[in-house]
Amino acid sequence: MSRDSALVHTFREVWAELSGIGRAPDGGYLRFAWSPAEIALRDWFKAAAAARGMPVTHDGNGNLFATWSGNGRSGGVLTGSHFDSVPHGGAFDGPLGIVSAFLAVDLLRERGFRPARPITVAAFAEEEGSRFGVACLGSRLLTGAIDPSRAASLTDRDGLSLGDVFGAAPAGARPDLVAGFDAYIELHVEQGRALTTPVGVASAIWPHGRWRFDVEGEGNHAGTTLMSDRRDPMLTYAFTVLAANKEARLRDAHATVGRVEVTPNATNAIPAAVRGWLDARAADGATLDELVEAVAKKATERAGRDGTAIRFTAESTTPEVRFDEGLAGRLAALLGDVPILPTGAGHDAGVLSAHLPTAMLFVRNPTGVSHAPTEAATDDDCAAGIEALARVLEELSAR
Ligand code: GLV
Ligand code: MN
Ligand code: MN
Ligand code: MN
Repeated sequence: MSRDSALVHTFREVWAELSGIGRAPDGGYLRFAWSPAEIALRDWFKAAAAARGMPVTHDGNGNLFATWSGNGRSGGVLTGSHFDSVPHGGAFDGPLGIVSAFLAVDLLRERGFRPARPITVAAFAEEEGSRFGVACLGSRLLTGAIDPSRAASLTDRDGLSLGDVFGAAPAGARPDLVAGFDAYIELHVEQGRALTTPVGVASAIWPHGRWRFDVEGEGNHAGTTLMSDRRDPMLTYAFTVLAANKEARLRDAHATVGRVEVTPNATNAIPAAVRGWLDARAADGATLDELVEAVAKKATERAGRDGTAIRFTAESTTPEVRFDEGLAGRLAALLGDVPILPTGAGHDAGVLSAHLPTAMLFVRNPTGVSHAPTEAATDDDCAAGIEALARVLEELSAR
């Protein structure tokens, strides 16, 4: 077997170990932070580290680290991603970066490479924010981008707090840990159709955020309430969804309302309240601010006409990220002049980039779909990603 086909084979075997964990009948994944499925993946991480003689530590914020210590020099390169998924998400978003990191370590060892500086594999907690609402919660806590008391006050859909599921209050910023690394490299499946070669390098992440909007009206009987007497929050909600779509199109930006809660959620009752979540993203921060302001203004005017009240609350925002251009260029050249491209998806790499030289490797996604069961990457492209990550880790840890 050539080494390439051996790597494809190894990847397939390891990927199969994880493929049943948290998979729903539709093929999508339910791997919320600290759910039994995500804990099973953390257990896999610990076993993978133990099998490689890499000691595992945690940062008191739910993030795990496994270290190959090298020849005793300090610093070193951090690599990894997250295990958690959106509801019914794809297999690759997150876990591919962690699995690839361990397999890249194996490749380097097979070649007899000994790093001069440590190579550390990370699994970050709650990247998707699917459980507690704040994206990249683990990396934000680690870097101090969110106050631990705010994180501790977040609750999931069952009313459980981070402390309840994690077993302790989060430790918060660990500059001692962050400063211990020279660079962070995250490998990730590409989440659109932009990448047409097996592997690429990221240039930037669009600024983005999540805004919850609460619309309050008056619950009443669907059969007896005159149309003219209603204060129906569903109308304000529906208008807000359409306004978000229109305002985003006007600005070449993205707006999505993918989550909604209706109270009381009965076919024959005018709702008393509707709560929605706006996810908005744009090429630059000024456009994003303008977009969200325009949606909020139009929705508020509409609420006035509907006799309802609407309130917008920012749940998590991420400024524009421009990855270290020198590092991106160096890695793209090292990998044979692969494409360098921006993305609209958020990543822990975006949070870490404020503290460390950071780069991302993308693996081609033939469906161009992500955050859905049909997200895809071929075994060959995943092997190419592992090979590329190994070359990058070697380059960054050799001296
Ligand atoms: C995370 O994947 C995000 O971009 O929402
Ligand atoms: Mn994602
Ligand atoms: Mn991801
Ligand atoms: Mn993400």
